[in-house]
Amino acid sequence: MKTARAWQLGIKDMLIMSGSRQRPHLKRPIWIIVLVSLVSICLIGAYIYPPRSSAACYVFSSRDCSIYEQPIHVPSRELTDDETAAQVVIREILKTPPVHSKNPKIAFMFLTPGSLPFEKLWDRFFHGHEDRFTVYVHASSEKPVHVSRYFIGRDIRSEKVIWGKISMVDAEKRLLGHALEDPNNQHFVLLSDSCVPLHNFDYVYNYLMFTNISYIDCFEDPGPHGNGRYSDHMMPEVEVKDFRKGAQWFSMKRQHAIIVMADSLYYTKFKLYCRPGMEGRNCYADEHYLPTLFNMIDPTGIANWSVTHVDWSEGKWHPKAYRAQDVSYELLRNITVRSSSYPSIQFYFSRITCNSALVLDIVVTMAGY
Ligand SMILES: *[C@@H]1O[C@H](CO)[C@@H](O)[C@H](O)[C@H]1NC(C)=O
Ligand SMILES: *[C@@H]1O[C@H](CO)[C@@H](O)[C@H](O)[C@H]1NC(C)=O
Ligand SMILES: *[C@@H]1O[C@H](CO)[C@@H](O)[C@H](O)[C@H]1NC(C)=O
Repeated sequence: MKTARAWQLGIKDMLIMSGSRQRPHLKRPIWIIVLVSLVSICLIGAYIYPPRSSAACYVFSSRDCSIYEQPIHVPSRELTDDETAAQVVIREILKTPPVHSKNPKIAFMFLTPGSLPFEKLWDRFFHGHEDRFTVYVHASSEKPVHVSRYFIGRDIRSEKVIWGKISMVDAEKRLLGHALEDPNNQHFVLLSDSCVPLHNFDYVYNYLMFTNISYIDCFEDPGPHGNGRYSDHMMPEVEVKDFRKGAQWFSMKRQHAIIVMADSLYYTKFKLYCRPGMEGRNCYADEHYLPTLFNMIDPTGIANWSVTHVDWSEGKWHPKAYRAQDVSYELLRNITVRSSSYPSIQFYFSRITCNSALVLDIVVTMAGY
């Protein structure tokens, strides 16, 4: 908005400047013809291209120009009732400052088919920090057997999750819904059975609490696995220019989690029109819904990258899958320190059965707990 204002001021300054510049000394009749034709060209121009900026409005038109004083991101088309309602609610939630809890906690939300292979590792991670976290487990195919006291009794009601379908987003929303019931939960981290922490608890806690933005992976992919999955049926609410992609594993602040609960308009668009086999293409709502939603409603409130390390460098449909023999101290060390600008605080093994005892040894040595 600031840049829009500056730009408009710039235009006004330019108009004033050109007005005060010395006119060339032409002979009067030519001067008049030139002036008249210039004015009529301008008027025709203004007629064909109605003024968009306030400066142009004041110069060219006698209409009420105050509508142009609004921020430029106000869409030019007329919003539907549902859109107006959604935008009002979302704007109010974003404007409401977070309630400061005396005992802020982080919700660790595990989305898993069944038992968690790294539960012992997480037990070591949580130990000694009992008042600063909560655990929620959504087991979508079989009842998990828990070995850690931090996980016992933490299963929430679950439903079947089919990979790539909206049921994945539904499970994420179910986890968020349960975790939001505890008013102390300020940050919500989505994890899978294949995730391991790369740092100790204090590091992760401080990192998320003190930056208090959401770490949602979000980028524009013009190729077939990005915009190629977009369907025109999402119009007019979601245009292709808004369509984004990102890995599913997010960490979200409370305000944003509430917005996900409140949204049904954009969610429904993705439920209906971003699914496998849509118009002969495969669209996966879990990779597009949240990045697109937050890119549209609060682009500066998200980091655009995720704190979960996922390796897309192979450019395939799925991220790089690490096998048990790939896992070494060196690999995890590399991922932990890879880039100081995009630090990973947890690591996602792409659906592999790992040697969990080996990973436990490595991570405990590295993170020191
Ligand atoms: C985080 O919250 C504090 C208050 O708790 C606020 O002052 C700060 O601006 C917030 N930071 C971000 C990045 O929103
Ligand atoms: C994320 O991307 C959006 C749009 O591309 C940008 O406006 C925003 O500043 C980015 N967020 C951060 C934290 O840089
Ligand atoms: C770790 O990083 C170094 C330097 O970039 C690289 O040479 C090495 O192959 C990496 N090791 C693993 C296991 O990824």
